Amino acid sequence: MMHIPARVVRAERENERVVSLTFDVKLNGAPGQFIMVWLPGFDEKPYSLAGASPLKITVGARGSFSTKLCSLKKGERAWVRGPYGRGFELLGKKILLVGGGYGFAPLRFLAAEAKKRGIHAVAICGARTKSLLLKPAACKTIFSTDDGSFGIKGSAIVAMEELFKKERFDVVYACGPEKMMEAVARLAKKHRAGCQLLLERYIKCAIGVCGHCACGDKLVCFDGPRFGYEMLANPEFGKIWRDKAGRKVQL
Ligand SMILES: Cc1cc2nc3c(=O)[nH]c(=O)nc-3n(C[C@H](O)[C@H](O)[C@H](O)COP(=O)(O)OP(=O)(O)OC[C@H]3O[C@@H](n4cnc5c(N)ncnc54)[C@H](O)[C@@H]3O)c2cc1C
Ligand code: FES
Repeated sequence: MMHIPARVVRAERENERVVSLTFDVKLNGAPGQFIMVWLPGFDEKPYSLAGASPLKITVGARGSFSTKLCSLKKGERAWVRGPYGRGFELLGKKILLVGGGYGFAPLRFLAAEAKKRGIHAVAICGARTKSLLLKPAACKTIFSTDDGSFGIKGSAIVAMEELFKKERFDVVYACGPEKMMEAVARLAKKHRAGCQLLLERYIKCAIGVCGHCACGDKLVCFDGPRFGYEMLANPEFGKIWRDKAGRKVQL
């Protein structure tokens, strides 16, 4: 639970909304795990590991906290604790990584680990438009945009359907909007591939105590954030989210 200081050594703009920050800290963490980032006087929020040694996170500017985080410059400091949660398990000989928005960042970390272990990976990076795409992973990367401004026209699911017509994969790994991950899981199941999904819920304690991150009977911070097909039977997956006050809201 102890925070450690982390100084920015590199701030790299990925696109008009997303920045990757590398810190002078080395963690023993795996792709799919997350850390809590604290900016004193602002707030503390969870971010997936985009790299562990050195620590790297990829942040999309949305509200005030993430916008402040994105504005950190080389030499400036945040405080971090973690890593937390169950990360991805690298299985199989040939894997497919499907990411939407900043959700592609932990998959790039996974692609780098797969390369080290000699596992063949193909990645799909999806976004609404070209200016919101992230940089490619350390493997063949197929891009898709909803408006057709770059790569395949349509969602990451359209790209995944195209790919499955030609190739088979042992396991599909996904991170991005929950509706997208639901479709990924159904498609992977249809093609008899394994499936690992990285879920998000409102995280406060990150250690399985407060219950704020519940998705049905699962705690995302403690039981996840990596889940498998069992999520398709979870009544809240793809449907319900809890807001800051713990109230249920429709996704
Ligand atoms: C396990 C996990 C990993 C994440 N990894 C990344 C990442 O790699 N990159 C990235 O840009 N974002 C990531 N997020 C989302 C991130 O924690 C923030 O929610 C996001 O940066 C917006 O924060 P904000 O305060 O600027 O925006 P706000 O305007 O306050 O919120 C925007 C949205 O973020 C949600 N949110 C706000 N606070 C939290 C919180 N404490 N926990 C979960 N969701 C919250 C809100 O419900 C809202 O839907 C992750 C979330 C989780 C749960
Ligand atoms: S955030 Fe407190 S139990 Fe998960």
